[in-house]
Amino acid sequence: IRRIGVMTSGGDSPGMNAAIRAVARSCAYYNIECIGFYRGYQGMIEGDYEELNARSVRNIITRGGTILKSARSKEFMTKEGRQKAADVLKEAQVDAMVLIGGDGTFRGGKALSAEHNIPIIGVPGTIDNDISGTNYTIGYDTALNTVVDAIDKIRDTASSHNRLFFVEVMGRDAGFIALNSGIGAGAEEILIPEEDLGLERLLDSLERSRRSGKTSSIVVVSEGDKIGKNVFELAEYVKKNLPDYDAKVTVLGHIQRGGSPSCFDRVLASRLCVRAVELLLDGKQDLMVGFVNNKVETCTLDEALQSKHEINKDLLRISDILST
Ligand code: F6P
Repeated sequence: IRRIGVMTSGGDSPGMNAAIRAVARSCAYYNIECIGFYRGYQGMIEGDYEELNARSVRNIITRGGTILKSARSKEFMTKEGRQKAADVLKEAQVDAMVLIGGDGTFRGGKALSAEHNIPIIGVPGTIDNDISGTNYTIGYDTALNTVVDAIDKIRDTASSHNRLFFVEVMGRDAGFIALNSGIGAGAEEILIPEEDLGLERLLDSLERSRRSGKTSSIVVVSEGDKIGKNVFELAEYVKKNLPDYDAKVTVLGHIQRGGSPSCFDRVLASRLCVRAVELLLDGKQDLMVGFVNNKVETCTLDEALQSKHEINKDLLRISDILST
């Protein structure tokens, strides 16, 4: 292997720049060339790339977003699109790719590898933490801290006005962000897609809290929650059934994807990406690097794509106990 390509794809996440830096620097360290593709698979199809040397990634470890930009390419989902991408890789003499992203990125990588025999290593980068084969994805820790910081601020005003706030957080179909930020921010209730606790229970819990003397409360709602109502409908429903509550809604949205990465995410990205380059140099392919029980481990891309339903039920129990 003489030339490795790197790209970021799908929803961006804090720490992606630290990951790009680690790939470019590892390549420099091992005396091979590194090519950065812009806008994920779309840039690969369009031949939008640039050589990255050790200096071109200076001072990016602190920055959120991704200097390589990101996209979700529809064209790459077609065989023709992937053929174009493979032609570009061949012309650019790229021998292998490090793909930083989530499940869509890995699915694309699998197809590229199967159809065009291009060695691929995946690196999990998404705030959602919904990838199997790793305890943490790059960006998740920073997103949790952003959410907790935002909820702390909401709590200040909730408490001044004796209000109930429903705070919607990201996570597509996964409740990791909601569950952990909810506990970290001391939420009254946490609604996640993996566990439908039902509307009755929510009303009971809020009513009990009110009677026990609580004057303000926070309910964290995961965007993929299956309670059957969106967060605005939920707030209306509660207002109707518990008229004593002055309920408000805050949707945190894309603020959760931005910001300077936490130290944890920077170290995670660095460790995973050094290993990703080393695996390619060792002739390995179709793997994802992950962080399991404090060690960098690998799994196949197929294993990484198995749905991650590892919600820790104990966290729900802890949340219940502590919101008494
Ligand atoms: O995959 C990460 C994620 O942040 C999800 O939690 C969310 O549903 C989605 O991206 C939104 O992505 P976008 O608005 O960029 O399409």
